[in-house]
Amino acid sequence: MTHAAITGWGKCMPPATLTNADLSTFLDTNDEWIVSRTGMKERRVSHVTASEMATIAAKRALACAGLDAKDVDLIVYGSCSNDEQVPNSASGVQAAIGATKAASIDLNTACTSFLYSLSTATAMIRTGVVKNAVVIGVEWISPFMDWENRNVAVLFGDGCAAVVVQASDKQEGVLGEQLGCLADARQTLRVRGMGTAYVNRGITMGDTEWDFDGPEIFKRAVTGMVQASHAVMAKCGVTADDIDLVVPHQANLRIIEAVVTRSGVPMDKVMLTVERYGNMSAATVPVALAEALEEGRVKPGALILMPAFGAGLTVCAHLVRWGDRVTPLGTTDADLPANKKTALDIINGIRSGKTNAKERSGEGLRNLRFIEAL
Ligand code: ACO
Repeated sequence: MTHAAITGWGKCMPPATLTNADLSTFLDTNDEWIVSRTGMKERRVSHVTASEMATIAAKRALACAGLDAKDVDLIVYGSCSNDEQVPNSASGVQAAIGATKAASIDLNTACTSFLYSLSTATAMIRTGVVKNAVVIGVEWISPFMDWENRNVAVLFGDGCAAVVVQASDKQEGVLGEQLGCLADARQTLRVRGMGTAYVNRGITMGDTEWDFDGPEIFKRAVTGMVQASHAVMAKCGVTADDIDLVVPHQANLRIIEAVVTRSGVPMDKVMLTVERYGNMSAATVPVALAEALEEGRVKPGALILMPAFGAGLTVCAHLVRWGDRVTPLGTTDADLPANKKTALDIINGIRSGKTNAKERSGEGLRNLRFIEAL
Protein backbone atom coordinates (compact mmCIF):
# COMPACT_ATOMS: atom_id res chain seq x y z
CA MET A 1 0.00 0.00 0.00
CA THR A 2 1.17 3.53 -0.75
CA HIS A 3 1.41 5.87 2.22
CA ALA A 4 1.70 9.67 2.33
CA ALA A 5 4.69 10.78 4.41
CA ILE A 6 5.22 14.34 5.62
CA THR A 7 8.71 15.14 4.34
CA GLY A 8 8.90 18.94 4.55
CA TRP A 9 7.60 21.74 6.73
CA GLY A 10 7.94 25.51 6.83
CA LYS A 11 6.17 28.39 8.51
CA CYS A 12 5.80 32.05 7.60
CA MET A 13 4.83 34.31 10.48
CA PRO A 14 4.30 38.01 9.78
CA PRO A 15 6.48 40.06 12.17
CA ALA A 16 4.04 42.73 13.47
CA THR A 17 2.91 41.74 16.98
CA LEU A 18 -0.37 42.89 18.56
CA THR A 19 -0.31 42.66 22.35
CA ASN A 20 -3.21 42.57 24.78
CA ALA A 21 -2.18 46.09 25.83
CA ASP A 22 -2.47 47.21 22.16
CA LEU A 23 -6.01 45.80 22.02
CA SER A 24 -7.02 47.68 25.16
CA THR A 25 -6.15 50.99 23.43
CA PHE A 26 -9.35 50.71 21.35
CA LEU A 27 -11.43 47.98 23.06
CA ASP A 28 -12.92 47.74 26.55
CA THR A 29 -10.69 44.82 27.50
CA ASN A 30 -7.56 44.07 29.49
CA ASP A 31 -4.60 41.69 29.72
CA GLU A 32 -5.95 39.94 32.83
CA TRP A 33 -9.29 39.03 31.16
CA ILE A 34 -7.69 37.84 27.92
CA VAL A 35 -4.95 35.77 29.59
CA SER A 36 -7.24 34.17 32.18
CA ARG A 37 -10.03 33.29 29.67
CA THR A 38 -7.91 32.32 26.66
CA GLY A 39 -4.19 31.97 27.54
CA MET A 40 -3.34 34.52 24.81
CA LYS A 41 -0.77 37.29 25.29
CA GLU A 42 -0.11 38.39 21.72
CA ARG A 43 -0.89 37.57 18.12
CA ARG A 44 0.53 38.53 14.70
CA VAL A 45 -0.95 40.92 12.14
CA SER A 46 0.07 40.49 8.52
CA HIS A 47 1.25 43.34 6.28
CA VAL A 48 0.94 41.07 3.20
CA THR A 49 -1.84 38.94 1.75
CA ALA A 50 -2.56 35.35 2.72
CA SER A 51 -1.19 33.97 -0.55
CA GLU A 52 2.08 35.87 -0.06
CA MET A 53 2.52 34.20 3.33
CA ALA A 54 1.53 30.87 1.75
CA THR A 55 4.12 31.29 -1.01
CA ILE A 56 6.97 31.77 1.47
CA ALA A 57 5.81 28.89 3.68
CA ALA A 58 5.51 26.61 0.62
CA LYS A 59 9.03 27.53 -0.57
CA ARG A 60 10.42 26.78 2.90
CA ALA A 61 8.58 23.44 3.09
CA LEU A 62 9.88 22.45 -0.36
CA ALA A 63 13.46 23.35 0.60
CA CYS A 64 13.03 21.33 3.79
CA ALA A 65 11.88 18.31 1.76
CA GLY A 66 14.57 18.80 -0.91
CA LEU A 67 11.83 18.82 -3.55
CA ASP A 68 11.79 20.97 -6.70
CA ALA A 69 8.56 22.95 -7.20
CA LYS A 70 8.38 21.52 -10.76
CA ASP A 71 7.85 18.06 -9.24
CA VAL A 72 4.80 19.12 -7.20
CA ASP A 73 1.58 17.45 -8.48
CA LEU A 74 -0.88 19.05 -6.08
CA ILE A 75 -1.30 22.19 -3.98
CA VAL A 76 -4.10 22.28 -1.40
CA TYR A 77 -4.65 25.72 0.09
CA GLY A 78 -6.53 25.32 3.38
CA SER A 79 -8.03 28.63 4.49
CA CYS A 80 -11.15 30.72 4.95
CA SER A 81 -9.32 33.92 4.01
CA ASN A 82 -8.91 33.97 0.25
CA ASP A 83 -7.39 36.98 -1.46
CA GLU A 84 -10.09 36.76 -4.13
CA GLN A 85 -13.07 34.53 -4.88
CA VAL A 86 -11.93 33.98 -8.48
CA PRO A 87 -9.28 32.91 -9.37
CA ASN A 88 -8.58 30.65 -6.44
CA SER A 89 -5.64 31.23 -4.11
CA ALA A 90 -3.88 27.90 -4.70
CA SER A 91 -3.34 28.89 -8.34
CA GLY A 92 -1.63 32.09 -7.16
CA VAL A 93 0.74 30.08 -4.96
CA GLN A 94 1.33 27.66 -7.85
CA ALA A 95 2.38 30.52 -10.14
CA ALA A 96 4.54 32.15 -7.44
CA ILE A 97 6.50 29.01 -6.62
CA GLY A 98 6.70 27.73 -10.22
CA ALA A 99 4.86 24.45 -9.63
CA THR A 100 3.97 24.30 -13.31
CA LYS A 101 2.44 20.81 -13.39
CA ALA A 102 0.46 20.98 -10.13
CA ALA A 103 -3.30 20.74 -9.66
CA SER A 104 -4.37 23.55 -7.31
CA ILE A 105 -7.30 23.40 -4.91
CA ASP A 106 -8.71 25.78 -2.29
CA LEU A 107 -10.37 24.06 0.67
CA ASN A 108 -12.37 25.89 3.34
CA THR A 109 -13.57 24.20 6.51
CA ALA A 110 -12.53 27.23 8.63
CA CYS A 111 -10.08 26.34 11.43
CA THR A 112 -9.88 22.68 10.37
CA SER A 113 -8.95 23.57 6.77
CA PHE A 114 -5.32 22.45 7.07
CA LEU A 115 -6.23 19.03 8.47
CA TYR A 116 -9.02 18.47 5.93
CA SER A 117 -6.48 19.50 3.24
CA LEU A 118 -4.00 16.99 4.66
CA SER A 119 -6.69 14.29 4.40
CA THR A 120 -7.40 15.30 0.79
CA ALA A 121 -3.74 15.18 -0.25
CA THR A 122 -3.18 11.92 1.63
CA ALA A 123 -6.16 10.26 -0.06
CA MET A 124 -4.99 11.41 -3.51
CA ILE A 125 -1.49 10.07 -2.85
CA ARG A 126 -2.77 6.74 -1.49
CA THR A 127 -4.96 6.25 -4.56
CA GLY A 128 -2.15 7.09 -6.98
CA VAL A 129 -3.67 10.29 -8.36
CA VAL A 130 -0.61 12.34 -7.29
CA LYS A 131 2.80 11.66 -5.75
CA ASN A 132 4.01 14.99 -4.35
CA ALA A 133 1.73 17.52 -2.63
CA VAL A 134 2.08 20.84 -0.83
CA VAL A 135 -0.54 21.35 1.88
CA ILE A 136 -0.98 24.86 3.25
CA GLY A 137 -2.74 26.20 6.34
CA VAL A 138 -2.96 29.98 6.13
CA GLU A 139 -5.12 32.75 7.54
CA TRP A 140 -5.22 36.53 7.09
CA ILE A 141 -8.09 37.28 9.42
CA SER A 142 -7.26 40.87 10.32
CA PRO A 143 -8.90 42.42 7.20
CA PHE A 144 -12.27 40.82 7.95
CA MET A 145 -12.12 40.93 11.73
CA ASP A 146 -14.95 42.73 13.53
CA TRP A 147 -12.49 45.03 15.30
CA GLU A 148 -15.14 46.84 17.34
CA ASN A 149 -16.40 43.57 18.88
CA ARG A 150 -14.29 42.61 21.91
CA ASN A 151 -15.88 39.13 22.03
CA VAL A 152 -13.93 38.12 18.91
CA ALA A 153 -11.29 40.78 18.20
CA VAL A 154 -8.99 39.58 20.99
CA LEU A 155 -9.01 35.93 19.93
CA PHE A 156 -7.55 35.75 16.42
CA GLY A 157 -4.24 36.28 14.62
CA ASP A 158 -2.65 35.90 11.18
CA GLY A 159 -0.09 33.30 10.14
CA CYS A 160 0.82 30.43 7.86
CA ALA A 161 2.66 27.13 7.55
CA ALA A 162 2.89 24.44 4.90
CA VAL A 163 3.97 20.81 4.68
CA VAL A 164 5.15 18.62 1.81
CA VAL A 165 3.46 15.22 1.59
CA GLN A 166 5.00 12.50 -0.60
CA ALA A 167 4.21 8.94 -1.62
CA SER A 168 6.10 6.44 0.53
CA ASP A 169 6.33 2.66 0.98
CA LYS A 170 6.74 3.10 4.73
CA GLN A 171 3.77 3.39 7.06
CA GLU A 172 4.14 7.11 7.69
CA GLY A 173 2.00 10.23 7.56
CA VAL A 174 -1.72 10.15 8.37
CA LEU A 175 -2.53 6.72 9.87
CA GLY A 176 -6.18 7.59 10.28
CA GLU A 177 -8.57 10.46 10.83
CA GLN A 178 -12.06 11.14 12.15
CA LEU A 179 -13.90 13.91 10.30
CA GLY A 180 -17.27 15.42 11.06
CA CYS A 181 -19.46 18.50 11.15
CA LEU A 182 -21.92 19.62 13.85
CA ALA A 183 -24.07 21.51 11.37
CA ASP A 184 -26.88 22.08 13.90
CA ALA A 185 -24.46 24.52 15.59
CA ARG A 186 -23.43 26.36 12.41
CA GLN A 187 -25.21 29.52 13.58
CA THR A 188 -22.77 29.86 16.51
CA LEU A 189 -20.05 31.35 14.30
CA ARG A 190 -20.79 33.43 11.22
CA VAL A 191 -18.91 36.24 9.50
CA ARG A 192 -21.62 38.44 8.05
CA GLY A 193 -20.83 40.47 4.96
CA MET A 194 -18.57 38.08 3.02
CA GLY A 195 -19.96 36.01 0.16
CA THR A 196 -22.41 36.15 -2.71
CA ALA A 197 -25.48 35.98 -0.45
CA TYR A 198 -24.76 39.59 0.50
CA VAL A 199 -24.62 40.92 -3.08
CA ASN A 200 -27.27 43.58 -3.88
CA ARG A 201 -28.12 44.04 -0.21
CA GLY A 202 -26.33 47.34 0.27
CA ILE A 203 -23.21 45.64 1.64
CA THR A 204 -19.67 45.97 0.33
CA MET A 205 -16.86 43.53 1.00
CA GLY A 206 -15.18 44.53 4.23
CA ASP A 207 -18.44 45.41 5.97
CA THR A 208 -18.01 42.46 8.27
CA GLU A 209 -19.71 41.71 11.55
CA TRP A 210 -19.29 38.46 13.45
CA ASP A 211 -21.95 36.33 15.11
CA PHE A 212 -20.08 34.48 17.84
CA ASP A 213 -21.50 32.37 20.66
CA GLY A 214 -18.21 31.71 22.47
CA PRO A 215 -19.51 29.59 25.38
CA GLU A 216 -21.59 27.33 23.07
CA ILE A 217 -18.65 26.90 20.66
CA PHE A 218 -16.46 26.11 23.66
CA LYS A 219 -18.75 23.28 24.84
CA ARG A 220 -19.34 21.80 21.39
CA ALA A 221 -15.64 22.05 20.49
CA VAL A 222 -14.52 20.18 23.61
CA THR A 223 -17.10 17.39 23.22
CA GLY A 224 -16.51 17.10 19.47
CA MET A 225 -12.72 16.96 19.67
CA VAL A 226 -12.72 14.48 22.57
CA GLN A 227 -15.09 12.17 20.65
CA ALA A 228 -13.02 12.51 17.46
CA SER A 229 -9.77 11.82 19.34
CA HIS A 230 -11.14 8.66 20.98
CA ALA A 231 -12.61 7.53 17.64
CA VAL A 232 -9.37 7.91 15.68
CA MET A 233 -7.33 6.18 18.39
CA ALA A 234 -9.80 3.24 18.37
CA LYS A 235 -9.73 3.13 14.55
CA CYS A 236 -5.93 2.92 14.54
CA GLY A 237 -5.71 0.48 17.48
CA VAL A 238 -3.71 2.80 19.75
CA THR A 239 -4.33 4.18 23.23
CA ALA A 240 -3.59 7.55 24.83
CA ASP A 241 -0.39 6.03 26.30
CA ASP A 242 0.96 5.52 22.76
CA ILE A 243 0.68 9.24 21.90
CA ASP A 244 4.05 11.02 21.91
CA LEU A 245 2.85 14.53 21.11
CA VAL A 246 -0.47 16.38 20.73
CA VAL A 247 -0.54 19.23 18.20
CA PRO A 248 -4.06 20.65 18.70
CA HIS A 249 -5.95 23.56 17.17
CA GLN A 250 -5.06 26.55 19.33
CA ALA A 251 -8.35 28.42 19.90
CA ASN A 252 -8.14 28.73 23.67
CA LEU A 253 -5.78 27.26 26.28
CA ARG A 254 -8.72 26.10 28.41
CA ILE A 255 -10.24 24.23 25.43
CA ILE A 256 -6.90 22.52 24.79
CA GLU A 257 -6.54 21.52 28.46
CA ALA A 258 -10.08 20.10 28.54
CA VAL A 259 -9.65 18.13 25.29
CA VAL A 260 -6.22 16.73 26.06
CA THR A 261 -7.04 15.75 29.64
CA ARG A 262 -10.30 14.05 28.64
CA SER A 263 -8.47 12.24 25.85
CA GLY A 264 -6.16 10.77 28.50
CA VAL A 265 -2.92 12.53 27.49
CA PRO A 266 -0.83 14.59 29.97
CA MET A 267 -0.38 18.31 29.22
CA ASP A 268 3.43 18.01 29.01
CA LYS A 269 2.91 16.16 25.72
CA VAL A 270 1.10 19.13 24.14
CA MET A 271 2.65 21.64 21.76
CA LEU A 272 1.31 25.11 22.64
CA THR A 273 1.54 28.32 20.60
CA VAL A 274 -1.72 29.97 21.72
CA GLU A 275 0.04 32.35 24.12
CA ARG A 276 2.19 33.88 21.33
CA TYR A 277 -0.02 33.59 18.24
CA GLY A 278 -3.67 33.35 19.39
CA ASN A 279 -6.13 31.51 17.13
CA MET A 280 -4.80 31.57 13.56
CA SER A 281 -7.64 29.31 12.40
CA ALA A 282 -6.29 27.00 9.64
CA ALA A 283 -2.69 27.98 10.39
CA THR A 284 -2.56 26.96 14.05
CA VAL A 285 -1.90 23.22 13.61
CA PRO A 286 0.78 23.46 10.88
CA VAL A 287 2.56 26.36 12.63
CA ALA A 288 2.57 24.41 15.92
CA LEU A 289 3.85 21.33 14.06
CA ALA A 290 6.65 23.32 12.39
CA GLU A 291 7.65 24.83 15.74
CA ALA A 292 7.54 21.42 17.46
CA LEU A 293 10.04 20.22 14.84
CA GLU A 294 12.21 23.33 15.26
CA GLU A 295 12.26 22.76 19.03
CA GLY A 296 13.18 19.07 18.70
CA ARG A 297 9.87 17.92 20.20
CA VAL A 298 9.12 15.55 17.30
CA LYS A 299 11.25 12.42 17.61
CA PRO A 300 11.81 9.93 14.76
CA GLY A 301 8.80 7.59 14.53
CA ALA A 302 6.68 9.76 16.87
CA LEU A 303 2.91 9.24 17.05
CA ILE A 304 1.17 12.62 16.89
CA LEU A 305 -2.50 13.37 17.67
CA MET A 306 -4.00 16.47 16.02
CA PRO A 307 -7.54 17.41 17.16
CA ALA A 308 -9.25 20.50 15.73
CA PHE A 309 -12.58 22.28 15.28
CA GLY A 310 -13.79 25.25 13.27
CA ALA A 311 -16.82 27.15 12.04
CA GLY A 312 -19.46 24.86 10.64
CA LEU A 313 -18.85 23.48 13.28
CA THR A 314 -16.35 21.21 11.58
CA VAL A 315 -14.46 18.84 13.82
CA CYS A 316 -11.68 16.31 13.31
CA ALA A 317 -8.79 14.40 14.84
CA HIS A 318 -5.82 12.99 12.92
CA LEU A 319 -3.18 10.48 13.96
CA VAL A 320 0.15 10.98 12.21
CA ARG A 321 3.17 8.67 12.33
CA TRP A 322 6.34 10.72 11.83
CA GLY A 323 9.18 9.34 9.71
CA ASP A 324 12.89 9.01 10.51
CA ARG A 325 13.92 12.53 9.51
CA VAL A 326 13.19 15.42 11.90
CA THR A 327 15.59 17.98 10.42
CA PRO A 328 15.33 19.91 7.13
CA LEU A 329 17.24 18.73 4.06
CA GLY A 330 17.67 22.33 2.94
CA THR A 331 16.71 25.96 3.52
CA THR A 332 15.80 28.94 1.35
CA ASP A 333 16.36 32.65 1.77
CA ALA A 334 12.80 33.38 0.54
CA ASP A 335 11.20 35.90 2.89
CA LEU A 336 8.36 38.41 3.15
CA PRO A 337 8.97 42.01 2.10
CA ALA A 338 10.08 44.20 5.01
CA ASN A 339 7.35 45.71 7.20
CA LYS A 340 7.74 49.18 8.66
CA LYS A 341 4.36 49.45 10.42
CA THR A 342 3.42 48.45 13.95
CA ALA A 343 0.56 45.98 14.38
CA LEU A 344 -1.55 48.77 15.84
CA ASP A 345 -0.86 50.95 12.76
CA ILE A 346 -2.05 48.13 10.49
CA ILE A 347 -5.17 47.47 12.60
CA ASN A 348 -6.07 51.14 12.86
CA GLY A 349 -5.70 51.42 9.07
CA ILE A 350 -8.13 48.53 8.60
CA ARG A 351 -10.54 50.01 11.16
CA SER A 352 -10.62 53.43 9.55
CA GLY A 353 -10.92 51.92 6.06
CA LYS A 354 -13.91 49.77 6.99
CA THR A 355 -17.26 50.94 5.82
CA ASN A 356 -19.76 50.87 8.61
CA ALA A 357 -22.54 48.57 7.47
CA LYS A 358 -25.06 50.12 9.80
CA GLU A 359 -24.55 53.54 8.23
CA ARG A 360 -24.51 52.19 4.69
CA SER A 361 -27.51 49.89 4.75
CA GLY A 362 -29.54 51.76 7.33
CA GLU A 363 -30.34 48.51 9.13
CA GLY A 364 -27.02 46.82 9.82
CA LEU A 365 -25.75 43.40 8.99
CA ARG A 366 -27.20 41.85 12.11
CA ASN A 367 -30.69 42.70 10.94
CA LEU A 368 -30.25 41.01 7.58
CA ARG A 369 -31.97 37.88 8.76
CA PHE A 370 -32.29 36.37 5.26
CA ILE A 371 -28.94 34.71 5.75
CA GLU A 372 -30.17 32.53 8.60
CA ALA A 373 -32.46 30.64 6.23
CA LEU A 374 -29.43 29.33 4.35
N1 ACO B 1 -12.51 41.63 27.48
C1 ACO B 1 -13.22 41.79 28.60
N2 ACO B 1 -14.43 41.22 28.78
C2 ACO B 1 -14.92 40.48 27.77
C3 ACO B 1 -14.23 40.30 26.57
C4 ACO B 1 -12.98 40.91 26.44
N3 ACO B 1 -12.23 40.79 25.31
N4 ACO B 1 -14.97 39.51 25.75
C5 ACO B 1 -16.09 39.22 26.40
N5 ACO B 1 -16.08 39.80 27.62
C6 ACO B 1 -17.09 39.75 28.64
C7 ACO B 1 -18.47 39.56 28.05
O1 ACO B 1 -19.05 40.80 27.72
C8 ACO B 1 -19.18 38.91 29.20
O2 ACO B 1 -19.53 39.88 30.15
P1 ACO B 1 -20.92 39.74 30.97
O3 ACO B 1 -20.80 38.48 31.74
O4 ACO B 1 -20.92 40.99 31.81
O5 ACO B 1 -21.99 39.72 29.93
C9 ACO B 1 -18.12 38.02 29.77
O6 ACO B 1 -16.87 38.59 29.44
C10 ACO B 1 -18.18 36.63 29.16
O7 ACO B 1 -17.47 35.84 29.98
P2 ACO B 1 -17.61 34.28 29.85
O8 ACO B 1 -18.84 33.88 29.11
O9 ACO B 1 -17.41 33.70 31.20
O10 ACO B 1 -16.39 33.97 28.95
P3 ACO B 1 -15.84 32.56 28.65
O11 ACO B 1 -15.15 32.03 29.85
O12 ACO B 1 -16.86 31.69 28.00
O13 ACO B 1 -14.76 32.90 27.57
C11 ACO B 1 -14.38 32.85 25.23
C12 ACO B 1 -15.16 33.49 26.38
C13 ACO B 1 -12.92 33.11 25.44
C14 ACO B 1 -14.85 33.45 23.93
C15 ACO B 1 -14.64 31.32 25.24
O14 ACO B 1 -16.00 31.07 25.31
C16 ACO B 1 -14.07 30.64 24.04
O15 ACO B 1 -12.88 30.58 23.84
N6 ACO B 1 -14.92 30.04 23.19
C17 ACO B 1 -14.46 29.35 22.01
C18 ACO B 1 -14.36 30.31 20.92
C19 ACO B 1 -13.50 29.85 19.80
O16 ACO B 1 -12.46 29.35 19.98
N7 ACO B 1 -13.93 30.04 18.61
C20 ACO B 1 -13.14 29.69 17.50
C21 ACO B 1 -14.02 29.24 16.51
S1 ACO B 1 -13.16 28.36 15.34
C22 ACO B 1 -13.18 29.07 13.83
O17 ACO B 1 -13.39 28.38 12.90
C23 ACO B 1 -12.95 30.51 13.61
